[in-house]
Amino acid sequence: MPANNQEKVIWFVGAGPGDPELITVKGKALLDKADVLLYAGSLVNPALVTASPAMEKVDSWGMKLDDMVALMADRVGMGKKVVRLHSGDPALYGSIVEQIAGLKKMDIAVRIVPGVSSVFAAAAALTTEYTPRGVSDTLIITRPAGKTLEKDYIAELSQIPATMAFFLGSEHFFEITEKLACPKDTPAAVIFHASWPDQKIITGTVGDIAQKAQAAGIHRSALLIVGKAVRGIDSGYQRSHLYS
Ligand SMILES: C[S@@+](CC[C@H](N)C(=O)[O-])C[C@H]1O[C@@H](n2cnc3c(N)ncnc32)[C@H](O)[C@@H]1O
Repeated sequence: MPANNQEKVIWFVGAGPGDPELITVKGKALLDKADVLLYAGSLVNPALVTASPAMEKVDSWGMKLDDMVALMADRVGMGKKVVRLHSGDPALYGSIVEQIAGLKKMDIAVRIVPGVSSVFAAAAALTTEYTPRGVSDTLIITRPAGKTLEKDYIAELSQIPATMAFFLGSEHFFEITEKLACPKDTPAAVIFHASWPDQKIITGTVGDIAQKAQAAGIHRSALLIVGKAVRGIDSGYQRSHLYS
């Protein structure tokens, strides 16, 4: 598993959005060889954790950064194969750079195996693409202000014609939609637990999606997608040159 015999390496693996079959082949192979598994419990499917033969499995939910880094450093120092399992793709809201920095201080390298982000599982759930020709050339991935973010740029970002995907916003759908500069009849959707068996898709407009999500009882683990692309084949797209 290490890149060479001398180097101490921790593998950061994207678990995918929920469906355990949406982890990469490489990620699954690493899980199958892991001795120690530190996983993001709230959004990683327990089936992936159960299937790993790792002798030590630790849920990182509620753990302090220093404790996570210390645990990984200690176990890799003992010669164990350590996998850090993140939900979706580790590059989106994974707080990985501070883990990498902590490990680097101890001369421990990190290798990253990408995963399928929930933002792409949400597009799959909606049977659409985020960039239909003539509808949107841009995907904005962002999050609302909240406990851990002082200021967001939702009002500014929503002035350009783009598809917007909001992470970490399930408790803030009303605030987000109030800040949006696009017209109230702009299509919008909330996808709860994309790719999980209890996936829910709520569709509406910027004007009513927050109310609809609240009525459906969605307060966590969801993405808000805004823009005509939400409507897929009914988005008003033009045929792509690619297939002309
Ligand atoms: C800490 S972020 C992790 C995102 C993850 N790295 C990814 O690429 O999907 C957690 C947020 O991602 C979104 N999320 C993660 N998994 C999801 C899923 N299966 N369906 C809908 N939203 C999800 C929610 O907005 C949640 O609050």
